[in-house]
Formats: sequence, structure tokens, C-alpha cells
Amino acid sequence: MKYDSVLKQIKPDKYEKEKVTKLAGKIIAVLNHLAEKNDIPAEATLVGSVAKGTWLSGKADVDIFLKFPLETSMRELKEKGLYLGYECIKKIGGYGEERFASHPYVTGKLEGYEIDFVPCYSIKSSKQLKSAVDRTILHNIYIQQNLKKDQIDEVLLLKKFMDSVECYGSEFKVGGFAGYLCELLILKYDDFEGVLNAAAQEWKPGLIIDLENLKTGEKFSEPLVCVDPVDENRNVAAALTLKKMAEFVIASRNFSNKPQEDYFSTRNIYTNPESILKQFKQRKTKTILITFKAPDIPPDALYAQLEKTKIALTKKLVDEGFMVEKSSYWTNENDLAIFILEFVLWSLPAYQKHWGPKIWNQVHQNKFLEKYGEDAYLDQDRWVVELPWKYEDAYSFLKFILAEENIHHLKTGKQIKNELRRTYKINDIDEVISDMELGVLNFLFKFLNPNWHLWR
Ligand code: CTP
Ligand code: MG
Repeated sequence: MKYDSVLKQIKPDKYEKEKVTKLAGKIIAVLNHLAEKNDIPAEATLVGSVAKGTWLSGKADVDIFLKFPLETSMRELKEKGLYLGYECIKKIGGYGEERFASHPYVTGKLEGYEIDFVPCYSIKSSKQLKSAVDRTILHNIYIQQNLKKDQIDEVLLLKKFMDSVECYGSEFKVGGFAGYLCELLILKYDDFEGVLNAAAQEWKPGLIIDLENLKTGEKFSEPLVCVDPVDENRNVAAALTLKKMAEFVIASRNFSNKPQEDYFSTRNIYTNPESILKQFKQRKTKTILITFKAPDIPPDALYAQLEKTKIALTKKLVDEGFMVEKSSYWTNENDLAIFILEFVLWSLPAYQKHWGPKIWNQVHQNKFLEKYGEDAYLDQDRWVVELPWKYEDAYSFLKFILAEENIHHLKTGKQIKNELRRTYKINDIDEVISDMELGVLNFLFKFLNPNWHLWR
């Protein structure tokens, strides 16, 4: 397949390149000037895809790292790094806020671009690593030295393909391929088609990619291992889930069988409440939504807690005797979070058989009879008692488990726990679907059509 017309759309043109480069240059100059003026021993440098020339048109997020000498204390690095970020935003005129990932940084919006200001240590080798983000400097140098000019297009094709089939990004929400991993895959397999062919034909969980022959791949246990060429102790694919690895393999096979330009664009979902409700109705299941206020925490933490809570909720329901067919969650990453639970079995009989001991062991028998007395009866040679079922349906169980005095039985994330308990509402899907924002409708569409992003 020829990729010229795809590249035309995804490759930044001269105008965009100039604009981004100019802005980055301006920011770096301002930062370095501020550092000098305030006697801060930091040096600003451009990293990430903009520095490597591997950003997708219209998607430049400018990653600026503030390098501090190794002897700087973590406290000083954080304090002065954040100060420089804020001052720079003030000076150029834009909006900024502090974020805490594993590492504090400032993110701002300047001239329409998202700019991250990340303080780090100025390291020369991974042996000197002091904070989680220090490697980035080394990544940058490695890619600039090893990625050939004509391979930049191949990186762009791979990033865009992955984005379209929803496998791009190492954040928890996606669990897919990071930008740096795409670059390393191109180095390994030469070009876009090389990566796709390998994925389609050869990839299996346990695959080790070790470009620099560092021989540490065995010590990682994730489905795909890509030993970081600049740090033998890191798997660049650590965030890739088995599911996303499988999805990428399938998308690669589908593309190889039927290459189409369509694979390089994000498909829009066209749906509406009526057709979603109709599809749910046809499934003859019972579907409910638990809506609540999302806690104010970074997206990665929020999604991780939603996942944990979803698993815990589903397990509790199943332990109680209800049958959950599918469950999932969604959030606008601001003020709304939703669990969706689709039940095959939603309400239970009023009585439940509770099995006791056989009559032959009198000690056990007496204990059982002490508790249940004349309610007990025999099934063959074994005591049984019928007990009223505690929860008439899943709704009453959910109300029970989400109550203040019981929610500690549920393994939720810490911040989710409070908001969930205080603000939850349970509704049948048809009661609330018409009030839902577009993002929720798209989410419900994907819930009903979990394969739609894999096929074109
Ligand atoms: N990084 C990393 N591992 C991750 C995420 C980020 O090592 N899971 C490092 C990489 O060195 C990367 C840099 O942080 O280059 C910036 O991260 P990000 O902006 O997410 O990636 P880019 O390479 O800039 O790709 P893009 O912005 O085009 O998605
Ligand atoms: Mg970036």
C-alpha cells in the first residue's frame, strides 16, 4: 500500500513545524533566563516527540524538562522546578496547573499547545537515575542518534494506526503502546509494515525485544518485554496489557488482509439513546448504571481505582448469587463517574437452601441444630435449612454494600470510596439514558459493540 496521502494528513507541515519549534524555543529561552535571574541551577531542554520530530500533526504536546544538577535535593528540585514552570506561563501568558503523577510537574496551555514543565535530574547514564522521569533525557538522545530520517514517517504511521485502533498510549485508561515504544518498534522492524507483519505473524506473549542486547529481558514478566536501550532495568512495554497486545495483533492481521486508508483515521460513533436501548432490550438482560461524583485525583489514579472497584463490586454480586454478564466503567475525568452492570440474573428466590452436616457426627449436628432448631429438615442423611434470602434483588444488595457502615467490605480505591458512598445513584439504564452526555452514549455503544475498533 502507498502511504503518501495518509502521511499528508498526519505529518506536520512546514508551517506547523515552524510554529511549534518557535514556541518551544521561546519557552526554553524564558525558562533559562528566569533560572539565571533567580540563581536556580536549572537548564531547560526540549524532549518528547516534538524534540524527536515524531509528533502527529495537530497533536503536539510540548515536553520541556528542567534539568537540575545531581546534588540538588528532591525538595529543591520540586520547589524550584514548579516555580519556573508557573513563572514561565505567567510571562508568556497562558493557563497552568500543578499535577502529581509519580512526580510533580506543571502543565500549561500556551498558544493553544499543551506544555508540560517537568523538573528532572541531569543524568548521563541510567546508573545515575534519581527520579522516575530522568530516563526521558536519555531516550531523547538515543532516538535522535538511532532513528533514521526516513523512519520518522514510519513512526507516524505506526502511532496513527495504533491510535485509530485504540492501542496508543501507556496511560492506565488505554494500557497500550507509548510513543517511545513505537519508536523502538520501528528501530527493531525497520518500518511500519515490518512492525505489523511481525505482530500479525510472530508475536506471542513472552516476546522479548532487546535492541542493545542487554540480556535482561528474562527478568520481566509482562506480556511484551522491550528492554529499554538506555536502562537495562526497565521494560518500556511495562504498561501494555495482554488485552491491548492481542487487540493490536488482531488489528495488524485485519489490516494485512485488507489494507485500507480508513485504518489511519478515528472512526466516529453515530448512535442515539433509542438505538442503544433497543440493543440492550434485545439482549434480554437487566442493565443498571451506578453514577457518582468522580473524586478529584489524576486520571491514572482515577482509572486504576475504577477498575479495582469494578472488580470488587462484580465479585461481591457474584458471591451473593447474582450473575453479572458484563461490567465496565466510564468517567469524564472531571465530575462524573459511572459503573455499568449487566445482569443475567438480577433477582433471586425468596429462600435459599443452606446445607448443614450429616447426622452421623453428633457434635457437628448439635451445633447446627442449636442455631436452626426445628427449622432444620433432612435431605437423605444431611441436615438442611431454608433461610430467607437477605437481598431480594441486586438493587437491595448494592444499597446494602454501598452504605456507610458496609462499604469497607468493598475493595475500592480510597478516594472513590468516599464519593461513591456519599453521591451514588442507581438507575435502570432506560431511566437515565436520555439525560446522558455524548461521551456516555459512545461508551455504551462500545460496551455493546466491543469489537468495533478492530475492524474496518
Ligand atoms: N515516557 C516513557 N514511558 C512512558 C511515557 C513516557 O518513557 N510510558 C517518556 C518518553 O521518553 C517520552 C517522554 O516521556 O518520549 C514524553 O512522554 P509522552 O509525551 O507521553 O510521549 P512522546 O514520546 O512525546 O509521544 P507523543 O507525545 O507523541 O504521544
Ligand atoms: Mg509528548
